[in-house]
Amino acid sequence: MKKGVLLVLVSFTLLILVACGDGNSADAQENDEVQKMIIRFVHVVSENTPKHQGALAMKEYIEEASDGTIRMEIYPNSSLFGDQDEYQNLVANNIQFIAPALTKFVGNNPQFNISEMPFLFENDEQAIEFWDGEKGQEVLGSLQEDGVLGLSMWPNGGKHLTNNKRAITSPEDLKGLKFRTQGGQLMDMIYSTLKAGSESIPFDELYTALDQGVVDGQENTFSNIESKKFHEVQKYMTVINHTRVDYAVFTNTKFWNSMNDATREIVEEGLAKGTEVARAEALTLNEQALEKIKAAGTTEVNELTAEQVDAFREVLQPVYAKYEEIIGADVIDAALKVSNH
Ligand code: LMR
Repeated sequence: MKKGVLLVLVSFTLLILVACGDGNSADAQENDEVQKMIIRFVHVVSENTPKHQGALAMKEYIEEASDGTIRMEIYPNSSLFGDQDEYQNLVANNIQFIAPALTKFVGNNPQFNISEMPFLFENDEQAIEFWDGEKGQEVLGSLQEDGVLGLSMWPNGGKHLTNNKRAITSPEDLKGLKFRTQGGQLMDMIYSTLKAGSESIPFDELYTALDQGVVDGQENTFSNIESKKFHEVQKYMTVINHTRVDYAVFTNTKFWNSMNDATREIVEEGLAKGTEVARAEALTLNEQALEKIKAAGTTEVNELTAEQVDAFREVLQPVYAKYEEIIGADVIDAALKVSNH
């Protein structure tokens, strides 16, 4: 689609969103009927991912439990808003839910860096236990000044390295390569420690950036790599699980406080169903995606041995020395406690 036509379409959609608001009726808010409304959930990944499956489960529950009085629209693939503008549109209540990777909020609160601490969480269970715990909840709830509530953590999984230049099995192999990051200084530090370059690029521009060689590689979960076809433009993948993609489901207070009890109960229950499905599906979807990447045959897959992983762990130790202070020793300790380090 031509850029001009797309711009007109997006502006038109925005006009409609603003005109409709969140569709709440003041009368219904006063009594205890379920309020008629449209809820919009916006995200940047494909359909075959834990985040989208969670959003679908939420929609299914909310629409059924409200007999269609509440409708939920899901916009995947940055089709309405993407990394650059979804947060502002949440704050403005043009949309009611987003579920971005936690690391994208390190500019608002550096404690969101926790999912980028190298080799901190080994698996989804450990990450979930941390984010459901006291310190995790404090960090999730830290955007209230913007009128944003962090309601729940949805996991995706461990990240792995892909690149187009050479097989990576030791820290030295990254030297001189350039990687895309989700943003934040911690990720830049990881790559500079490994003598590699880094550049923050929005998710919806990543395929083109890899294809055109703007960057040599990137790090992501198997389900993000496979569902966005990054492997088709990346010759090498290293299974390393050095950092994670985990999400915060965010809503805005204007929308949240506009609901009466009957409505909020359904939306909260829908969110609980979404959380259950996203958490239950994450590992399976990532395992399936790894098999599909291997079967595609486009990419040499290198699974590191424990000794090879230890070499990366050792080189990246300085990240802990620096970020313990920035994130806070209490938060790091809580994370280390659940990950049994
Ligand atoms: C990325 O930007 O690579 C991912 O965080 C996208 C996502 O939402 O999983």
